[in-house]
Parts: sequence; structure tokens; C-alpha cells
Amino acid sequence: MAKKPNKKPEVETTGHQWDGIEEYNNPLPRWWLWTFYACIVWGLWYVIAYPAWPMIEGATAGYKGWSTRANVAVELAEAEAANAEINAKLASAELEAISQTPELQAYATSAGAAVFKTWCAQCHGSGAAGAKGYPNLLDNDWLWGGTIDDIHTTIAHGIRNEVDDDARFSQMPAFGEILETPQIDQVANYVMSLSGTPQDASLVADGQTVFMENCAACHGEQAQGDIFQGAPNLADAIWLYGGDFATIKETVTNSRYGVMPPWNTRLSEAEVRAVAVYVHQLGGGE
Ligand code: HEC
Ligand code: HEC
Repeated sequence: MAKKPNKKPEVETTGHQWDGIEEYNNPLPRWWLWTFYACIVWGLWYVIAYPAWPMIEGATAGYKGWSTRANVAVELAEAEAANAEINAKLASAELEAISQTPELQAYATSAGAAVFKTWCAQCHGSGAAGAKGYPNLLDNDWLWGGTIDDIHTTIAHGIRNEVDDDARFSQMPAFGEILETPQIDQVANYVMSLSGTPQDASLVADGQTVFMENCAACHGEQAQGDIFQGAPNLADAIWLYGGDFATIKETVTNSRYGVMPPWNTRLSEAEVRAVAVYVHQLGGGE
């Protein structure tokens, strides 16, 4: 086999050879080498200047003292300072006057939307449409009232919680201990008839008697509900827990006890007002 002529005899080879291919021992290009050294120097400086080495707790701080956590704190403080004036206005305005002040209304609505996403969406849904046991806040069907004052009180003090003395409170009795099962079946069918839900018509008349004697005091003679007791309207086909026979029977037998925490301990007055304004303008506000 003819040996390949070495075209650059002046360059040494490393002596390595694979299948007759030899490796030249060319020096690295200057520009490459200097870039390489510069990277090493930059890397060393970076390790000294910025947080780099993980330690048991946290990491080395670096001489520049840079920290994303501190930066966020500074940004938050700046945002708070920038909004301090309008927050003070919001916290001290008459509740009813907020909607008449376009600047406050616009600010409260957008700030309230942010509060809602953070604190309320997990129960009421990100679109505020609610879920079983958690009321829909988009409609004008209110348990505790839909004026801005009512909504503000509900949010500030919460419902049936044990921490706020001013929390909204009421309790439907568990009728399993008061009525006979046939009476519960009757009244459940009467309640279903009110919203046109298919029901056992033979039980409705007796159910009405049971209702007038046991339920009308809270839910109203027309079953229209009572916002002073947080008693839902039972005639409008909007259900907090459910309007089928089994669910109504369950509600009447064992009662329900919907709890919402108070928010005035966790949020500032401006934030409580902002989210009240936000809920009020969702569509059902009175
Ligand atoms: C832990 C779950 C939970 C969270 C979080 C929560 N709520 Fe509620 N909320 C409830 C429940 C349960 C009720 C209904 C209680 C009842 O049955 O009367 C309710 C009722 C309400 C009502 C009364 C609705 C009506 O028809 O009168 C408003 C207004 C309201 N919530 C607003 C809010 C706002 C605003 C937030 C966030 C700051 C929030 N909620 C956070 C559980 C929650
Ligand atoms: C002391 C007042 C009170 C009395 C009496 C009362 N209720 Fe209630 N009822 C309430 C309250 C308050 C709620 C809401 C409970 C909650 O949200 O935790 C409620 C909820 C309900 C619901 C659930 C509605 C829904 O949207 O899911 C039904 C159904 C109901 N009541 C039927 C009855 C019937 C039938 C009677 C009579 C046998 C009755 N209630 C008697 C206060 C009362």
C-alpha cells in the first residue's frame, strides 16, 4: 500500500495514528486561546462577585451582595409607596362613593382582581363562578346581600367562622332529628316543585304544610330566602349545594354549615374594599 504523502512536513504530529490517519500537533489559534483565558477570568470573577457556591444553608453571598429576594422586596416597597396615596383614599372613602369616583373605581377593580386571584379563587373559582358549597359571585342571587356594604361586611368578617365576633352567623337545624323521614321526603318534593324541578306531585301538598311550619321562618313564605339569616332563595333554581332530591334530602336531614374566614385580619382595609368593589361589579352587585 502506497503511503500518503505528508503535505506539511514542517508540522509535527502527535504520534497518534488511527487507520493510517495521523494527528497534527497544530497550536490552538490565538483568538481561541485568549477567549478561553478570558472565560476563565470572567468565571472566577463571577464566582467571587455573585452568589455561586451552594452551602449547607443558602449559598456564598458574593461581594456585590446581589439577591433576587432583596430585589423583589425593593420592587414591592416601591410599588406600595407608589400606591400609598390612592390606597389611603380607597380606605377612607365612603363605600357607596367609590363607584362614583372613576379613578377609585378603576383602581379598586384592578387591585381587587389581583386580590381575588390570590385569596378567593381557590374557593370561589378563578372566574368567581363558585362550586358546590361555594357561592357563585357573578349572579344577583345573594345569600347575605349584594350591596357594596353587604359585600364588604361579608368579606371583612367572614361567615360562621370562630375567629371573628362579627362574622355572619346563622344555622339551619338538622331536621333529621326533628322531622320524620316521610315529612322530609314531602318537604323536599315541595322545595323541588318551587323551581319547576320534576318531583313527586303527590307529596307536594303535605310538603307545603311541613315547609310553612318548619322552614318559612328562615327561607320565607314564598321560599324567597332571607339575607339577614343567609338563608338561600329556594324558588329560583340556583343551588348552593344542589337541587336534586338526594341533595335536598341530605341538606334538610343534616343541615349545612358553610364557613368563610374573615379577611380583615389578613388583608389591609384598602385590599378588602378593592376586592369588595371587584365582586360588586362582577354583575350581581346591587
Ligand atoms: C375557604 C374558602 C373560601 C375562601 C378562601 C373565600 N370564601 Fe367567600 N365564601 C365561602 C363560603 C363557604 C361562602 C358561603 C357561606 C354560606 O354558606 O353562607 C362564601 C361566601 C362569600 C360571599 C357571600 C356571597 C353571598 O351570596 O352573599 C362573598 C361576597 C364572598 N364569599 C367573597 C369572598 C372573597 C372576596 C374572598 C377572597 C378575599 C373569599 N370569599 C374567599 C368560602 C370562601
Ligand atoms: C334557622 C333558619 C333555617 C331554617 C328553619 C331552615 N333553613 Fe334551610 N337554610 C338555612 C341556611 C342559613 C342555609 C344555608 C346554609 C349554608 O350555606 O351553610 C339553608 C340552606 C338550605 C338549603 C340549601 C339550598 C341550596 O341552594 O343548596 C335547602 C334545600 C334548605 N335550606 C331547605 C330547608 C328546608 C326544607 C327547611 C325546613 C324543613 C329549612 N331549610 C329550614 C336556614 C334555615
